[in-house]
Amino acid sequence: MQVYSSVAALRAFRDAGRKVGRSVGLVPTMGALHAGHISLVKRCRAENDIVVTSVFVNPTQFNDPADLEKYPRTLDHDVAMLREAGCDAVFAPSVEEMYPQQDTRQFHFGPLEQVMEGVRRPGHFNGVAQIVTKLFDIVCPDRAYFGEKDFQQLAIIRQMVKDQHYPIQIVPCPIVREADGLAMSSRNTLLSADQRREVPLIAQTLFASRDMASKMTVRELRDWVIGRINASPAMQVEYFEIVDRDTLQPVGDWTARPLQGCIAVQVGTIRLIDNIAY
Ligand code: PAF
Repeated sequence: MQVYSSVAALRAFRDAGRKVGRSVGLVPTMGALHAGHISLVKRCRAENDIVVTSVFVNPTQFNDPADLEKYPRTLDHDVAMLREAGCDAVFAPSVEEMYPQQDTRQFHFGPLEQVMEGVRRPGHFNGVAQIVTKLFDIVCPDRAYFGEKDFQQLAIIRQMVKDQHYPIQIVPCPIVREADGLAMSSRNTLLSADQRREVPLIAQTLFASRDMASKMTVRELRDWVIGRINASPAMQVEYFEIVDRDTLQPVGDWTARPLQGCIAVQVGTIRLIDNIAY
């Protein structure tokens, strides 16, 4: 497995594979890898001749400088995990390499970005689109793998692929959870021991809400989920929305299906997201 930090070197590696007709899969990450990322890499390994994983903490998608500053960075450990998982190439560029000049491109996703993360994190999805288009243009993958934990991001990327006519198959991968239900996230490593004990309540409440759905209106269920999690002094729900799985627009009743419950919870200075299908 090779680790590349320059665009030119990664392109040369990729072109050599292309010339002999090999398919390429891309797993874009911001590093601090965990079993959730590795599940994407393994799926990518099974479906492509060449597996490229990018490790880059993208500054343009952070709307909070403190969040960018404290985002975990563990490149050596990431490289060891990727080698073990059967990755062929790691692309780990510097900020200067990816952004030699300010990226002024503006992407618009309409109603998809006017809800949930798009409202609470202004500019976030524009930054995601900036880096993902750069990665797509550099790596030119046949397939790209994204986790369903970032449910809205996945919808935005699918939209972006359609808008930009990328000949790339977007492969969604299921959320990987800890034994107590907590959705795996690089941010989990930032939790204190006390916070870590509290946060499984998020997933446990989402699971329980599936059984409650037949007994309550959408609004009642929303209030029930928020109330149950907010009862923990360690957590504050930022939003919990029950949305149409394709349009991401909040629904008022259960007649529209399929639906997804999407949540963001503030735990001290750490923000966690999760979602569940109804
Ligand atoms: O999901 C992530 O880790 C990031 O948003 C992504 C897709 C790697 C872009 O920086």
